[in-house]
Amino acid sequence: MTRLRSVVRGCGSYLPRTVVTNHDLAARVETSDDWIIQRTGIRQRHIAEPDETTSVLGVRAAQNALRNAGIDASTIDLVVCATSTPDHTFPSTATQIQAGLGIQAGAAFDLQAVCAGFVYAVATADKFLTTGAASRALVVGAETFSRLLDWEDRTTCVLFGDGAGALVLEAQPGEGHSGDRGVLTSHLRADGRHRDKLYVDGGPGSTGTTGKLRMVGKEVFRFAVGSVTDVIAQAFDATGTTAEDLDWFVPHQANRRIIEASADKLGIAREKVVLTVDRHGNTSAASIPLALDAACQDGRIKRGDLVMIEAIGGGFTWGSALIRW
Ligand code: UT7
Repeated sequence: MTRLRSVVRGCGSYLPRTVVTNHDLAARVETSDDWIIQRTGIRQRHIAEPDETTSVLGVRAAQNALRNAGIDASTIDLVVCATSTPDHTFPSTATQIQAGLGIQAGAAFDLQAVCAGFVYAVATADKFLTTGAASRALVVGAETFSRLLDWEDRTTCVLFGDGAGALVLEAQPGEGHSGDRGVLTSHLRADGRHRDKLYVDGGPGSTGTTGKLRMVGKEVFRFAVGSVTDVIAQAFDATGTTAEDLDWFVPHQANRRIIEASADKLGIAREKVVLTVDRHGNTSAASIPLALDAACQDGRIKRGDLVMIEAIGGGFTWGSALIRW
């Protein structure tokens, strides 16, 4: 049975110009390169300068994605930006990206599911495209998490970085089976009982300030490894595929140990896992599109490959999407 699919036309990313190494951080807080590498796999992260706001990073990533897709910005009729670090409380970062690209048609909005934001945004854009509500979408993950960090707190400030990535998705007819190109299935979850395990202690409706990121790291770790694999199993079930059919597993890049434990639990071979956490740290909603772009640029992800994206974030929120590239 033919049906519309959201097919990837291109991806792109952008990283702030300043790189901060573990050694740089060890000069500011009581930590070490060895501790950070051993517990997280992170070696460095990019940190935005004051002029590099979330929308600035998002516009550059989107421009790179459009260029790689060979698509003119004027033909985009949906911009979805996943971010928890908007330039302003409102208007949305998506409208700033839209204006930065010179787009005047269609809809633009932000979507906030913290580190799961990009998976939520792909799933949402897919619904617009496959129902005919839009024809070409720009899905952006853009973050400046450095602005939310308590730089005195060594348990969190070593983990995060800034950046942006984007995908251009286009509605195209498919056959309705797992050989189709495009987003084959997506599965989203949330369980707000865990909202106090990873949060920001401020906001416009409570303190009137931006607040700082707080995290019970061990609990996030336990939940990430123990529970979020459900959405990946659902994606395999929904499409009749298995871990062996996957070409690439591109999870949210929070911690190398979480990623490898999840891959092992799911029977996904380590060589199919795309890892960028060593270079980027945890860039929240930007981490998956940054990793996708890295693997496209170096020739690993190719047209026709089966790619699983998966993430967990504050809330908790989590999700997966299975994409035939
Ligand atoms: O996108 C989702 C967002 N978050 C995550 O995915 C994070 C999930 N959690 C984690 O990745 C890990 O829990 C961490 C990397 C945050 C921490 O690793 P851990 O193995 O759970 O370490 P821990 O919290 O049990 O801390 C072990 C020790 C503690 O010292 P004591 O109490 O054993 O003396 C910490 O105080 O390491 C200490 N420690 C540090 N030492 C050096 C904590 N942070 C640091 C640090 N440098 N930066």
